[in-house]
Amino acid sequence: MTAKKISLTRYLVEEQRVDDRIPAQLRLLIEVVARACKSISHAVNKGALGGVLGSAESENVQGEVQKKLDIIANEVLIEANEWGGHLAAMGSEEMDSIYVVPNRYPQGEYLLLFDPLDGSSNIDVNVSIGTIFSVLRKPEGHPGVTEEDFLQAGAKQVAAGYCIYGPQTTLVLTVGDGVAMFTLDREQGSFVLTQENVRIPEDTKEFAINMSNMRHWDAPVKRYVDECLAGKEGPRGKDFNMRWIASMVADVHRILTRGGIFMYPWDKREPGKPGKLRLMYEANPMSWLVEQAGGAATNGRERILDLQPKALHERVSVVLGSKNEVERVTQYHLEAR
Ligand code: AHG
Ligand code: MN
Ligand code: MN
Repeated sequence: MTAKKISLTRYLVEEQRVDDRIPAQLRLLIEVVARACKSISHAVNKGALGGVLGSAESENVQGEVQKKLDIIANEVLIEANEWGGHLAAMGSEEMDSIYVVPNRYPQGEYLLLFDPLDGSSNIDVNVSIGTIFSVLRKPEGHPGVTEEDFLQAGAKQVAAGYCIYGPQTTLVLTVGDGVAMFTLDREQGSFVLTQENVRIPEDTKEFAINMSNMRHWDAPVKRYVDECLAGKEGPRGKDFNMRWIASMVADVHRILTRGGIFMYPWDKREPGKPGKLRLMYEANPMSWLVEQAGGAATNGRERILDLQPKALHERVSVVLGSKNEVERVTQYHLEAR
């Protein structure tokens, strides 16, 4: 049987047709983001040949040294999106404040948030990295756009996804109608639908956490991981496997593909910070994807998508993946209170 190839464009047109699930402007916006990801993918692939490896001489707003590719990816996303007429403004991990679409371009009704290059520490070692994005509607009732307009709970997202640059370049998307995966066909230059209705198994034997922080963890996290490590003879009655790629996109991609639990919890290293990962352009889009695939995502206590953001670069504790495992970790936190 030769299955008909469905391009991202066709998938989006059909989403627009069925019950008007997505408006035309949102469809075009997603296409532009996908095009930007394609171009980032080409830059990533060139590696040393394209002079894109190594660090730049700058820090971002979170005090992290920027890699050249962090900056390149950020610029590609801004340039691709600013003139299309779909957006009012953008927010990025690599920019201190929001980027309002200049008034020489038509103003759109959406807000775009992104982590242009996730997994920066893996760029130079040729391990999978990615781009994460989240789309919100600009609140109505006032002209112009402010940072406040971005501070909407993740449950308000209208589209979210990521593009992973690994052995294959794969775009993973939700518009609230399940999760679909599109693989980049390099010869054709287009994203082709390769999986629909992605489902995360409710149970798993695989966990992902940076174990080097164990001594800094909170008791509920320690309890959960200790029980996994105890294996067949322990309270869980089964052996667990561990994976930690240090690119959230790659860890989440594995979980969407075969299940598992991912944790980047609060720890005692920097007790004032709720976690390492950022709510608006890492945790929210990933949490929505995971929920749309039947998984769960919490900060250890509450559903991430219900959290009311207070700042653009706010950090959050993250527990996501297979439903029963996430519920267990959340339960351990609630019991410890
Ligand atoms: P970024 O490269 O955008 O700053 O994000 C890196 C994040 C995330 O992708 C990953 O899960 C985590 O940082 C890895 O952190 P550790 O190096 O502490 O393991
Ligand atoms: Mn990141
Ligand atoms: Mn990043």
